[in-house]
Amino acid sequence: MTENAAAPGHIRKLWPADLPEFRRHLMRLDADSRRARFAMAASDEFLATYAETAFALDTLLFGYIEQGELRGVAELRMLSGQRSRMAEAAFSVEPEYRHRGIGAGLMEHVVLAARNRGIRRLYMSCLGLNRAMQALARRFSAELVFESEDVLGIVEAPAPTTGTLMQEAVTNAGSFATAILDLQQKWWQRYAFLRPRTP
Ligand SMILES: CC(C)(COP(=O)(O)OP(=O)(O)OC[C@H]1O[C@@H](n2cnc3c(N)ncnc32)[C@H](O)[C@@H]1OP(=O)(O)O)[C@@H](O)C(=O)NCCC(=O)NCCS
Repeated sequence: MTENAAAPGHIRKLWPADLPEFRRHLMRLDADSRRARFAMAASDEFLATYAETAFALDTLLFGYIEQGELRGVAELRMLSGQRSRMAEAAFSVEPEYRHRGIGAGLMEHVVLAARNRGIRRLYMSCLGLNRAMQALARRFSAELVFESEDVLGIVEAPAPTTGTLMQEAVTNAGSFATAILDLQQKWWQRYAFLRPRTP
């Protein structure tokens, strides 16, 4: 994500160690957001199970982290057995953090990752009814085209180049380092009482 004063956090790839944060992010979504994200009313139990399985599936997750909390997530799930090299993309940004370009920042990561995997189509189950998601996709008109107004969003992904592969590799390496820092920060917040006190 380019420098954005409205969204001072950072976006990075999420790792299995981020599972508790991912679960908490999903739980913070209100009923409308859950319906928009999952196309149904999602209970806390459903979200807890969903978070557990998300990292086990053939899925890439990217998260927006601000002050140590995960406030937005994009998921890119490879759909195997598809002749058309299709993946499913889904986004969730907590209501208080919307309209700051976080969705667009997450979309940039999803498009780059999809391009590098030769994905030709992005499937978004919510697209037809979701004005925010439609507006977001339109901002990427150079890379995304609407194949069907309803359900399918399409990415015409050129073949990966050394440049795009390097871009993702460098981002992932940075993501891993940042993930460790995020976890350390969390750990120190939780166990601050263990810090030596200055007299
Ligand atoms: C869709 C969603 C991820 C967008 O996140 P965001 O961080 O607000 O996105 P951005 O700030 O990058 O805004 C992207 C575009 O959407 C527009 N937008 C955001 N919310 C909108 C709304 N409710 N109605 C119309 N347009 C909206 C923005 O104005 C922007 O377009 P523009 O600046 O070119 O006009 C967020 O609204 C969300 O999590 N919604 C609930 C879950 C969901 O619907 N997920 C998608 C289904 S998988």
